[in-house]
Amino acid sequence: MQTTDPRKSEIASYVNVDGVSREEIASLLMLPPDTSMGDYALPCFRFAKTLRKAPALIAEELKKDILSRPNPFAAVEAVNGYLNFKFDRAAEAGKVLSDVLKRGAEYGSSDEGAGKTVCIDYSSINIAKPFHIGHLSSTVIGAALYRMYRKRGYNPVGINHLGDWGTQFGKLIVAYKRWGDEEKLKKGGVTYLTEIYVRFHTEAEEDPALEDEARAWFKRIEDGDKEALRLYDLFKSLTLEEVGKVYKRLGIEFDSYNGEAFYNDKMAPVIERLEALNLITVSDGAKIVDLKEWGMSPCLLVKADGATLYATRDLAAAFYRKRTYDFYKSLYVVAYQQNLHFKQLFKVIELMGEEWYRDLVHVPFGMVSLEDGTMSTRKGKVVWLKDVLDKAVEKAALVIREKNENLVNAEAVSEMVGVGSVVFFALSNNRIKDITFSYDKVLNFDGETAPYVQYTNARAVSLLKKAGDLGEMFKEPLTETELKGLEGKEGEELVSLLSRFGQTVSEALEKYEPSVVTRYAIELAKAFNRYYLTTRILNGEPSVRRARIALVYAVHTVLEEALRLIGVKAPEEM
Ligand code: ARG
Repeated sequence: MQTTDPRKSEIASYVNVDGVSREEIASLLMLPPDTSMGDYALPCFRFAKTLRKAPALIAEELKKDILSRPNPFAAVEAVNGYLNFKFDRAAEAGKVLSDVLKRGAEYGSSDEGAGKTVCIDYSSINIAKPFHIGHLSSTVIGAALYRMYRKRGYNPVGINHLGDWGTQFGKLIVAYKRWGDEEKLKKGGVTYLTEIYVRFHTEAEEDPALEDEARAWFKRIEDGDKEALRLYDLFKSLTLEEVGKVYKRLGIEFDSYNGEAFYNDKMAPVIERLEALNLITVSDGAKIVDLKEWGMSPCLLVKADGATLYATRDLAAAFYRKRTYDFYKSLYVVAYQQNLHFKQLFKVIELMGEEWYRDLVHVPFGMVSLEDGTMSTRKGKVVWLKDVLDKAVEKAALVIREKNENLVNAEAVSEMVGVGSVVFFALSNNRIKDITFSYDKVLNFDGETAPYVQYTNARAVSLLKKAGDLGEMFKEPLTETELKGLEGKEGEELVSLLSRFGQTVSEALEKYEPSVVTRYAIELAKAFNRYYLTTRILNGEPSVRRARIALVYAVHTVLEEALRLIGVKAPEEM
């Protein structure tokens, strides 16, 4: 694994182990669970075989070797086969704080991804179907990865691979032609479309001829029939307009809305290539790629009637993206229910001899269900994301009013807290886990929630407002005496956490796991609250006041930035 933390390379350059490269040592360095043990730890177990010595002895010898030469460490300790490194606290704090003071929100940014394009396929909603809670995770995970890639210098491309093709559009047209009403459609939007769509299915059970009619209408869309396309476009623009409002509230944008329909004219060349490569088997008239050898069911690409499928369009899309963006990686943020689909897709591309199949990554996630009975998914009833957001905002408003009656921007703050709480929740667990949503849980000000972190940030902001003109205050660099004012467990923990911010974002990207940053924000908020409770800041000793205020400023800056990365806004006051 490649390491991205410059501190690791720095430490590694002081560690000499015969037959082990600096890169390997750097990659072995880890962050100890408890900062009191040190800032970094090197497990020496891996060296035991090569050196034919016990790990504890190796650690001891390495320690002696390092201390025999000039080094930047405040302490090096050998404990149970680990070598623990501590940096000089005051120097460390000085570095971190001056860096944050200088760079502001840019702190933690890097150019490690320079020149690398990463395609992220996320949200990818279906046209004429509501934006339901099932698309929440894809949307917020993808958008968070997008911002994190950008922060680390990559060039991310956000793609909303719209589900805008398929026989359901024929059904919709039939339903609309029979029972639809233009006025009601304009007013009801996608909800109305869903209603008539559901009605189609109920009536088709009685009258199977409706299905034939639907097929015929879909054929007309495919053939470019004017009336069919007019309705298709109407349904599509209505849906996009509606989801656009949700995206806006979530602060999300896309670089491309090229969905399934976009690939209509791009599938044939790929199928031809597959045929030329002898990879296509014809089975009952359908074109498939046999994947038995890899323990998978066949990848169906063209049905006997000539119709293409979801997989066919994804195959064309993968090639199109490679051609268009020459990606370093191409991500698909899609629920784990589609694990097989992506395994098949990537395998087919591998079989075609495209080395870049290795750069295709399915980023799966678990299911979100609702605990609240009133919002449960009954048959035919979908949980709209918009409704969830509205209700969260409504509830947030109540809590906020209770806490601070005189808050001036109560409405705007409620929106930030309500929407933020839903997003934060969706990003606070390991993404593969199935999760249960509850309004009370996500809005608990004392839990590991958006409002907890937002409130902590607002507390830091209010402190800074009372501190005076910061620009003036930090004209001169902090002195060593001042920095000593940050000593003590709580202050050191904060500095150590702050110093890890950039690395934390990189780690989130390595694992495609935005929750790494969410957890970090929670840890930082908790550590700050401990600091705040134990330390006199504004009315502390004059000799240390400035350093402590700088620390609060750094915490605020990093909290706000961590929240921004996951897509949560930070009110100044709440
Ligand atoms: N529209 C699909 C769904 O809602 C997700 C599409 C994901 N992206 C892709 N390239 N297959 O299930």
